[in-house]
Amino acid sequence: MTHRIAVIGGDGIGPEVVAQALTVVRAAGVAIDTTDFDLGGARYLRDGTVLPAETLDELRGFDAILLGAVGTPEVPPGVIERGLLLEMRFALDQYVNLRPFVWPLPGTDAGTDAGRGSAARAVDMVVVRENTEGSYAGEGGFLRRGTPHEIATQGSVNTRMGVERCIRFAFELARSRPRRHVTLVHKTNVLTFAGDLWQRAFDAVAAEHPDVGTAYNHVDAACIHFVQDPGRFDVVVTDNLFGDILTDLGGAVSGGIGFAASGNLNPARTGPSMFEPVHGSAPDIAGTGTANPTAAILSAAMMLDFLGEADAASRIRAACEKVAASTDASAPGLSTAEVGARVADLV
Ligand code: IPM
Ligand code: MN
Repeated sequence: MTHRIAVIGGDGIGPEVVAQALTVVRAAGVAIDTTDFDLGGARYLRDGTVLPAETLDELRGFDAILLGAVGTPEVPPGVIERGLLLEMRFALDQYVNLRPFVWPLPGTDAGTDAGRGSAARAVDMVVVRENTEGSYAGEGGFLRRGTPHEIATQGSVNTRMGVERCIRFAFELARSRPRRHVTLVHKTNVLTFAGDLWQRAFDAVAAEHPDVGTAYNHVDAACIHFVQDPGRFDVVVTDNLFGDILTDLGGAVSGGIGFAASGNLNPARTGPSMFEPVHGSAPDIAGTGTANPTAAILSAAMMLDFLGEADAASRIRAACEKVAASTDASAPGLSTAEVGARVADLV
């Protein structure tokens, strides 16, 4: 079966890392039919286009979307992020942003002790970030902008339906993992409206899953644990903004952001899900051929899992692990193309 994939390379290093991811997918023997979409900051600067309605409609017809990174410093903040990336997440109802963190990768130096299983790994967690609501929703506005009395509000939107479906996903995911544990991260001691709704929804879903253990952390304390004791977490569920911040931290404590993959999932499959590295477009290193494509390759592996190609996905993950393990940390890093070629060779 051939999977129809919409490819949005985007800006900066986006197209470079996505090209390697596609090479690896093909090397893994998965039949894909790709269509490139010219979207992102560069397109906007050229003709003012962000995401035409007919392009969004066209995207709905694909099995999945693979995205590199979008955004460029010449475009004011928010234009591409809100108009393209968030628009797709919202319009395609990709309500879970799934961000796994595993470190050391099995096979890398610190992980090779014979018999070390994943339980012994420093980090083996997955963050389930709510992806359509919270302070990302777009509520708010200005009054008297540009005057000394100006007012800006930016509210956090939390619907019981939106929160509960995300939490439910986290519990079902935990059931499929050996440790069967979910931590809610919020700030219920200050955000007493949104936090209360999250906590009640969490408790209700937890009651339906007596076989899954639970914990709660305030987000500030969770930051300490992410750095000092990330091994305590299995599944973490949290709101959109907390999840954005925590997952950069998650990348930083598990090999670096160059390894952090993500899936914007529409679990109901009423539209395509979208897979992208957690990192941005990194304009400072664009064109130098030095970006690590592993995050994009691992994102493509998540895509294959979602498309029912679990065998190819796990072969790709194993190949990434071998390449990371064989890389000499004291030597200059492999180029973007070298990493892609080595992973493709081993897959
Ligand atoms: C991410 C990014 C995006 C976000 C930006 C680019 C809008 O930081 O995917 O984590 O905040 O969600
Ligand atoms: Mn982010």
